Amino acid sequence: MSHGTNRHEFARATEGQQTTRSRRRLRRSGAVGVVLAGSMALLAACGSSSTTSSTSSTTSGVNLSSAHGTITWWASPIAQVGIRAALIRAFEKAYPKIHVNLVSAPTNTDTNRADLVNTISGGASTPDVFMGDVIWPAEFGAHGFAVPLSNYLPSSYWAKFAPGLVQGATYKGKVYGSPLFEDEGFLYYRKDLLAKYHLPVPKTWEQLESDAVTLVHDNAVKYGFVWEGNSYEGLTCDFMEYLTSAGGSVVNSSYTKATIDSPAALRALTFMRSLITSGASPAAVTTFEEPQAMAVFDSGQAAFLRNWDYAWANSQTPSDSKVVGDVGVAPLPTFQGESYPGYSNIGGWNLYINPHSKNLAADLVFIKWMSSTQAQDILGKTYSEIPTVESVRLALAKDPSIAPPIKVAAETRLVPRPAGTPNYPQVSSAIYTNVNAALAGSMSPSAALKTAASQINTALAGGI
Ligand code: GLC
Repeated sequence: MSHGTNRHEFARATEGQQTTRSRRRLRRSGAVGVVLAGSMALLAACGSSSTTSSTSSTTSGVNLSSAHGTITWWASPIAQVGIRAALIRAFEKAYPKIHVNLVSAPTNTDTNRADLVNTISGGASTPDVFMGDVIWPAEFGAHGFAVPLSNYLPSSYWAKFAPGLVQGATYKGKVYGSPLFEDEGFLYYRKDLLAKYHLPVPKTWEQLESDAVTLVHDNAVKYGFVWEGNSYEGLTCDFMEYLTSAGGSVVNSSYTKATIDSPAALRALTFMRSLITSGASPAAVTTFEEPQAMAVFDSGQAAFLRNWDYAWANSQTPSDSKVVGDVGVAPLPTFQGESYPGYSNIGGWNLYINPHSKNLAADLVFIKWMSSTQAQDILGKTYSEIPTVESVRLALAKDPSIAPPIKVAAETRLVPRPAGTPNYPQVSSAIYTNVNAALAGSMSPSAALKTAASQINTALAGGI
C-alpha cells in the first residue's frame, strides 16, 4: 500500500495510519487529480478480472431486464428506522415488477454478523440481499458467505464509488460488497455551552478533556464527553481514532504480527482511561454503544459526543432531541503535538448477496439501484449518511442545506480498521475486550495492550 494514495485508504495490507489525508489537503496540494486517476485504475483493475459485460440489461449472463418477483432484504435500522422503508418505496416505484420484503436486522454489528453467518452457513436462501458492515468482505469472501459481485457487475459500475471504498470491499481480487453509505467518526459539540463559556471547539484531546471537566464542575451540564466504550465493535472504532492520532497501529502491513503493544498505543489507552478518571466522561461510557451515547447527548445531558454522521439527523429530529439548533460538528481532535485533525475511523455499510439466493437477477437490480443518484440522495439528504457515490457526495457537499457532517467530511483524516484478514472478528474482539477492561479499571492499560497483542497474534496465526 503506497504512502498517501488517497483519503479512503481502506488498506488491506496496512491500517495506514500515515496513509490517509484530508480531502482538503489533497485538493490544496493539487494532488487530487493524480490520486483519483491512480485509484480509478486500481478500481478498474479490481472489477475487470472477472467481468465482461457492460450493457445495462445483461450482466455476465444474468438478464436483469426481465428480473421480477419478491426478494428479502436484511437490514438494520442503524439510527433511523425510516431509512429502509423510504428506500424500498422509491425502488419499488422504479421497478414495479420487484417487491422487497424487509427483515429488520440487529443494530449491533457483531450480533448482526453472528445471525447472518448462522443463517447463510446453514444454507438458507433468504435473505437474498443483506446490508453488511464494511469490515466483513474478507471473512465473508473467504468462507463463501457472499456472492463475488465483481463476477456480475462490470468495472464501469465500480468506478463511480469514492476512491478506496471498492478496494475495501475486495478480498483476493473479487469485490463482495457494493458500497451503500459511508460512516466516519465526528465530534459533536454543544454550540450554546461553548459560547457561554467562551471555549473554542477543541482541537486536541487534552483540550476536550479539560473543557469537559470544566463544564461538569461548573454544573453547566451533567456529563462532559460521551462515546462508545462498551465491549463491542464500536469500541474498536473509537480506539482506532486515538491510537492512530497517537501514531500507533494494530498489526504490521503483512498481517503477520501485532504492533498494538507500543508506546503510542499506551498513550492512547492511558488517555482514554483518564477521560473517565478525570470526570470528563461518565463511567457509564464503558457500557455505551452508539444509541446510548447519542441519546444522552440528544437529551441535553452532555457537552460533547463522538458518533457517526447519522447522529446529526437524530440530533436535529425534534421528537428525539432536546438540542435541535444547538449542535456543532467538527473533525475529531488530535493529541497535543500531533497534526490536526485527528483520525476518524471509517465505517459504513455495503450490500451483499447471499450465495444461496434464488433471485440473483432481482438482487442485482436492487443493489444497482441503491447506488443510483436517487437512492444516494435519500441517504444523504434525509438521513445525513455520507453517499458512497463520489459525484453525489460532491454535489451534496455544495448544497447549503445539507447536513454538516457531509460538509465536514471534506476535512477528515480517515483510518480503516485492520479488516483485511478473514479473522478480523477475533482481532477486533482482542482489541475491544481488553480496551474495555482498561477503561473499566480492571486491567492496567499496559497489561491490556500486552494481552491484546498476544490474542491478535493468535488470531493472525490462524489465518486462512
Ligand atoms: C457503524 C459503522 C460500522 C461499525 C459500527 C460499530 O455502524 O458504520 O462500520 O462497525 O458502527 O458499532
